[in-house]
Amino acid sequence: MKTMLSGIKPTGQLTLGNYIGAIKQFISYQNDYEMLIFIADLHALTLPIDPKELKENTENLIAIYLACGLDPNKVILFKQSDVHEHAELGYILACQSNMGELSRMTQYKDKSSKISNKESIPTGLFIYPTLMAADILLYDADYVPVGIDQKQHVELTRDIAERFNRTYGGGFKIPETVLARSGAKINSLSDPNKKMSKSESDKGTIYLLDDLALSRKKIMSAVTDMDNEVRFDMENKPGISNLLTIMSTLSNRSIEDLENEYRHGGYGNFKKAVADVVISELEALQNKVNEIKKSGIISQVLLEGSKKAEALASKKLELIYKKIGLR
Ligand code: TYM
Repeated sequence: MKTMLSGIKPTGQLTLGNYIGAIKQFISYQNDYEMLIFIADLHALTLPIDPKELKENTENLIAIYLACGLDPNKVILFKQSDVHEHAELGYILACQSNMGELSRMTQYKDKSSKISNKESIPTGLFIYPTLMAADILLYDADYVPVGIDQKQHVELTRDIAERFNRTYGGGFKIPETVLARSGAKINSLSDPNKKMSKSESDKGTIYLLDDLALSRKKIMSAVTDMDNEVRFDMENKPGISNLLTIMSTLSNRSIEDLENEYRHGGYGNFKKAVADVVISELEALQNKVNEIKKSGIISQVLLEGSKKAEALASKKLELIYKKIGLR
């Protein structure tokens, strides 16, 4: 069976973009692959974060994974910081990368451009992709399901792995990115040319655990265009196209099917239908998350997951240590 691996950072609140672009994909693959899904909590440290908030986000994220239907009997579910090999291999891979390729990462450029004093850009933000490469390469992952924004990091992982294999005579499997067929980039409701993002808390972002009435309001006030025809056209009608994508992925209906039903019914009517679908999905999710948090199973799931992950990761790290002459 092929191996699939992915993770999400416990920074901020999880968004509808994370849900559609990543989590829903994980669920659909769990029967077909050897799957590892983790909480990228070391990655959450690359920008300042309050310890209490980090803990809360982590608990919420694991509860969301479980509430969405990830089955810990099928999937190895764990926290990155529970498996020390991630940080160790991350260091080795930082030594295999160079400043040029890391400076070209779009996400680094975006995030660092928001920091006005360039001297204070955190080093962790810069070497973030080498830690992500370690996450993937430790487990010989064949496939990495992510949203479009992470594709460049997986490509860098491939470059680093190929370089290492050439230098040291093998060691790593070369992974491939898997993008969602639809929904690999959910955009902001207030600025539909930009990614919906948890770092930009605004009226354009739907948070999975947020107040439902507020989320409905955000959808009803989503920015659209003036021509009042519900039709998919990413270039000229990004707002309507984004709403069509959201509704299509959540209701399992094709875009064409939705266009046929809503084309001439007016934007208000269409937005209400989108809001109904989103809210009913979020309501069910929130109820399950609350049940899971009350049930007290989270620490047990993480303990078992980290043991299984550690068994795989330690073998790989030993092999790499041997290859580079540390053993
Ligand atoms: P993160 O935590 O920023 O996002 C988690 C996942 O959600 C996807 N995503 C989106 N998809 C569609 N539309 C959006 N608006 C949207 N916003 C986010 C992301 O592409 C991602 O798949 N570095 C990663 C976490 C990570 C990881 C890994 C992933 C660490 N190690 C190894 C895969 C393999 C990150 O920060 O994702």
